[in-house]
Amino acid sequence: YLADGARWIETALDRLVPPADARPQQLHAAMRHSLFAGGKRLRPLLCAASAEACRAPRNAALFPAAAIECLHTYTLIHDDLPCMDDDDLRRGQPTCHKVYGEAVALLAGDALQALAFDLAARSPSAPLAIVRELAAAAGPAAVVGGQVEDILGEGLPPDEDRLRFIQQHKTGDLIVCACRIGVLAAAGPPRALDAASRFAAALGEAFQIADDLLNATASPDQLGKAVGSDAARGKTTALSVYGLPGARQRLDQLTADALDALRDFPGDTAPLDALARHLATRKC
Ligand code: IPE
Ligand code: IPE
Ligand code: MG
Ligand code: MG
Repeated sequence: YLADGARWIETALDRLVPPADARPQQLHAAMRHSLFAGGKRLRPLLCAASAEACRAPRNAALFPAAAIECLHTYTLIHDDLPCMDDDDLRRGQPTCHKVYGEAVALLAGDALQALAFDLAARSPSAPLAIVRELAAAAGPAAVVGGQVEDILGEGLPPDEDRLRFIQQHKTGDLIVCACRIGVLAAAGPPRALDAASRFAAALGEAFQIADDLLNATASPDQLGKAVGSDAARGKTTALSVYGLPGARQRLDQLTADALDALRDFPGDTAPLDALARHLATRKC
């Protein structure tokens, strides 16, 4: 499911993103460098699986799925900049600013965010609702707010309230958005939209705990990005707040909570179930 879904979304993105030889070539090459570096494509897969859980074919969610991956990739490019996490490796490749310089990387992120809204607006079903979901998830109350607390929290004593704010907003809100816009693209019922929110809120928090655990325990080869950097920067993470066994326990509880929400979807939830279980045990 993962490999096939990744091919599905990558083929679509290749068609929907401006070609690398279009002017300005540096910009389009930078956008493509980060977009096609080989991410897990989790958010588009969750979007497609949420549409399937509402008895729609995954192609019904193609535009929203492409939109959420563009938005996510923009957040990664900016997250890696020297003014934020200052990372050199992403998706197994040098980060965008390492290859194209800070100015072009910043602008490639900006362009991917704008492209995300264009793609969302092209959804055949519920385009306005999908654009509004994306705007809320991208905005000050969500990703941007979460990133601000993550950055300004560096070096402060571990604090559970700050941790939960960061997990929910820097990570959870885009994952919730991915699932909700999948339901909207499938014209699913209100009950499914609520189920998507509950499923993805738990999954999003679990996902960030796994990211924090991997930052402390994995290798850069395995992960395709830096390790040990959270502790070095004094970030507020699941590990700094709960410790290793506590973080693992919370990850398992949140995964169980996510699976529990699946019963309120009208269709086949096997792909969402498998994705949630896979993410809880992932090694990269
Ligand atoms: C990384 O997200 C950023 C976080 C919110 C933890 P992913 O782990 O989904 O990154 P890619 O898309 O696979 O590179
Ligand atoms: C990135 O969070 C989240 C966003 C870009 C919104 P992290 O900084 O924890 O993720 P990685 O570890 O760099 O992928
Ligand atoms: Mg960060
Ligand atoms: Mg980072």
